[in-house]
Amino acid sequence: MSQKTIIAPSVLSADFARLGEEVEAVCKAGADWIHLDVMDGHFVPNITFGPPVIKAIRDRTDKVFDCHLMIEPAERYLGAFAVVGCNIITVHAEATTHLDRSLQAIRDLGCKAGVSLNPSTPETVIEYVLDRLDLVLLMSVNPGFGGQDFIPSVIDKVARVRAMIGVRPILIEIDGGVTPETAPLVARAGADVLVAGSAVFKDGREAYAGNISALRTAADEPRLAALGSR
Ligand code: DX5
Ligand code: ZN
Repeated sequence: MSQKTIIAPSVLSADFARLGEEVEAVCKAGADWIHLDVMDGHFVPNITFGPPVIKAIRDRTDKVFDCHLMIEPAERYLGAFAVVGCNIITVHAEATTHLDRSLQAIRDLGCKAGVSLNPSTPETVIEYVLDRLDLVLLMSVNPGFGGQDFIPSVIDKVARVRAMIGVRPILIEIDGGVTPETAPLVARAGADVLVAGSAVFKDGREAYAGNISALRTAADEPRLAALGSR
């Protein structure tokens, strides 16, 4: 398990007219992964982008492409996201009737498999698929938009999911309203990966490195303390 907090900027808050340059800039500024928010206007009340856009930016970096599918149904599109170079594919438990099958399909495509839970979804839905998971993405806002306020009930949920995971090599990722103020709260509870859109893509490109390091600095110490007490 990595000691360092993984920072995954969400390109949802990037300048879409210059997406390739934005990906390069944020990677140069210290991003560990690139978080890709795919929305369908059906499961969530917003529409973003799909495989062709991901394909167009894939060659801008070798970093992990962390694809968060907010689409329903997701199953029929998994291959399309794998083929354009997504390394992790995460489906929402609420948008997937056959979660076990979808997770198997993602791994069969050669990708890491993730499941995401909305703030109101209890963590018990993943109890019987833990051995098929590489990542659990806990939403700390209702999915659909960047720039929303962090929902604090996720903090207890992180701790509960951490206990369910036990010694399995599954990462816990937090998405929504992550800032230097909220990052330590989830890091202390056992989060490994922090997604941040507005907290990274603000104040112009010169600020990206400082924005990323502010998140990392805020999270690393409480995360180390949490690792120590495990
Ligand atoms: C919300 C998306 C998030 C979003 C986070 O549906 O899944 O990844 O971009 O944005 P911030 O960090 O601005 O809350
Ligand atoms: Zn996301």
